[in-house]
Amino acid sequence: MADNNLEHLGIIMDGNGRWASKRHLPRTAGHLEGLKALKRCILGSIEMDIKFLSLYAFSTENWSRPKTEVNYLMNLIATKLPGELKFYMSKGIRILIRGRKENLPQNVSEAITKVEDATKENSIITVIICFNYGGQSEIADAINKIIEKKITTLITPELIRENIQFPFLPPVDMIVRSAGEKRLSNFLLWESAYSELGFYDKLFPDWNEDFIKEIIIEFLTRTRKFGGLGK
Ligand code: FPP
Repeated sequence: MADNNLEHLGIIMDGNGRWASKRHLPRTAGHLEGLKALKRCILGSIEMDIKFLSLYAFSTENWSRPKTEVNYLMNLIATKLPGELKFYMSKGIRILIRGRKENLPQNVSEAITKVEDATKENSIITVIICFNYGGQSEIADAINKIIEKKITTLITPELIRENIQFPFLPPVDMIVRSAGEKRLSNFLLWESAYSELGFYDKLFPDWNEDFIKEIIIEFLTRTRKFGGLGK
């Protein structure tokens, strides 16, 4: 466990569109700026000794956005994800993509495979990019996997967890969301059973290293009880 006790942080990156609209820019400009903020959040997390950082980049519901925006986000991941390979290698960042990988455009699948393979030995921080991700689908996929394996014992929470994508990841200690909305939007539903939650008005493109520190300071004020009576 990291010194600050916050081993795994999850971020729901919201408000890119509003950041752009406020500046009379196209929504896509907000996503590009969000990508810069994402990099600052990774650096801040490394500084603060966070070992796992999960980022909600594209949900299974985001396909319903205008085709131009969906295409833009697909191209962003296909180009910028492998485009930052030097950065991941120099900082010891392992990249994992969490979510349904089938039915993604071929250039996106290729970018994912390339980056996951190239960074698999890196161990300073694991950055989990949730892409084409939905918490409910993830639980359904785990149950289908159990059925496929012809496991006939009773379904238990442990069995579901073992069959979720990347079962070696620790549960998420804290989930934070930018841009003032106060909901989980289908993010890490199984893992978030005992996560601390934090909601902040600041739009995601305005997040930086110092803001990650503020989040940790808030986390340290929380008493975690996991259903017990606490310390
Ligand atoms: C939510 O803001 C943000 C997204 C749906 C996309 C987040 C994606 C990135 C930050 C880039 C990720 C790219 C890579 C390569 C990992 P919104 O559009 O819902 O904002 P709004 O609520 O203000 O409209």
